[in-house]
Amino acid sequence: MSMKVSAIILAAGKGTRMASPLPKVLHPVAGTPMIHKVIHACLGSGAEDIRLVVGHQSNLVKNVANILPVHCYDQAQPLGTADAVKAANVDTLEGLVLIINGDHPLIQAEDLQKVIKEFHESKADIAVVTAEVKNPGSLGRVVRHHGELMAIVEAKDASKDTLKIREVNTGLYVVKADVLQDILPQVKNNNVQREFYLTDIITLGKEQDFKVKAIKASAVMAYGVNNQEELARASRVIFRRKARKLMEQGVVIIDPRATYIEEEVEIGAGSVIYPGAYVRGKTKLGAFCVLEPNTFVIDCVLGDSVEVRAGSYLEKSKIHNRATLGPYARLRPETEVGEEAHIGNFVELKKVKFGKGSKAGHLTYLGDADIGAGVNIGCGTITCNYAVDRKKYKTKIGDNVFVGSDVQFVAPVEVGEGAIIASGSTVTEDVPAKAMAIARARQVNKEKYAEKFATPETEEG
Ligand code: UD1
Ligand code: CA
Repeated sequence: MSMKVSAIILAAGKGTRMASPLPKVLHPVAGTPMIHKVIHACLGSGAEDIRLVVGHQSNLVKNVANILPVHCYDQAQPLGTADAVKAANVDTLEGLVLIINGDHPLIQAEDLQKVIKEFHESKADIAVVTAEVKNPGSLGRVVRHHGELMAIVEAKDASKDTLKIREVNTGLYVVKADVLQDILPQVKNNNVQREFYLTDIITLGKEQDFKVKAIKASAVMAYGVNNQEELARASRVIFRRKARKLMEQGVVIIDPRATYIEEEVEIGAGSVIYPGAYVRGKTKLGAFCVLEPNTFVIDCVLGDSVEVRAGSYLEKSKIHNRATLGPYARLRPETEVGEEAHIGNFVELKKVKFGKGSKAGHLTYLGDADIGAGVNIGCGTITCNYAVDRKKYKTKIGDNVFVGSDVQFVAPVEVGEGAIIASGSTVTEDVPAKAMAIARARQVNKEKYAEKFATPETEEG
């Protein structure tokens, strides 16, 4: 049986315990805003209509959430979870409604699909997803009588005995839309916190002879983020999941506990990831790549057998097969490093096309440059791309050019194929192919000159 599925995500709460000026659901979990993780899980479950309830710092939350296909609803005041659901204009819903907390980033699309399937199989009208946990803490307790679900009692309203129950409310519900429309207005706020508890739909449903079910799920479903420590733990879980997935695909991860690879990253089999590698965004690595310790890679595409040595920082760049980078290389956006090229230590490239087999081994800055194939860039080479008119100009260096050490190219400037640039030159004019350019003052040796300046030995005093 297929029914339209909608989802209501509750994210209007204040998140006081985060002790942070950033709204709770915007905190990144393994690099992705918490709210995006929850929205993605809902999208992946097949929900067609996703309604996000916002309140505290709602404009910020809306701005981030609206990148994804959601509709935002304002809850004027945080009067409780049932009031929050009400804010989502439930009268316009049909079919099935998933209700999920915005601060449960570990729930995945597959978990939601399983829950929906069980809901259908059990022919329930209302279901709450529960889990057995080690430390139930402040979570709502699931009260049963002879195994049958009776009620959910909030920790703050619970007796000592009830607090001992380790089966808790995960905060995830599946409800038929018409049943929700019927029951929700009946929820009252006669409890310790003077809040409208969504958990009351369980008892209200039972009183009205609806079929109410508890669907048992894994403890991770109950994992909510309420403070920074829980946030860090959630990130770790997601990084570990990703590492596990990659290892199943043949990626060698030396220490999965110290590897930070974001969810969307792709890595080819046979690649080796050392501890402390941090790989972000839409990065793709081919097969047999190596990321040494403390490499930071964001939105880059690496071919096969690319070696990134320790301490390198790569952003929005493309690196072709068998190139080697670092240690301590820096690639800034729009850089492309050709096959078998080598970028060595303390070399920074920005907006550079660096040709096949070319080398820049040490202490160099190249910006806004086109470097051909087979080029040698000597130590300490600099492109002076930023001029006094505050514009950027281009340096073009042809194939097989040999650039000696300590050369500056004052752009715009072009060097023809096969040319040689003498060490220490400041190149301000184009160099023809096969020529040698030497642009430095001639050396003068003044014999005995230094003696004149020899400082006499001073007496102490
Ligand atoms: C809630 C449940 C509890 C469950 C737990 C799971 C109730 C009364 N309690 O408790 O049984 O074990 O979730 O994590 O439902 N929110 C709003 N508007 C409000 C209040 C809350 O949007 O007026 C949002 C929050 O932003 C949060 C979610 O609802 O995303 C849950 O609220 P929270 O206050 O964290 O509820 P818990 O006390 O954790
Ligand atoms: Ca919570």
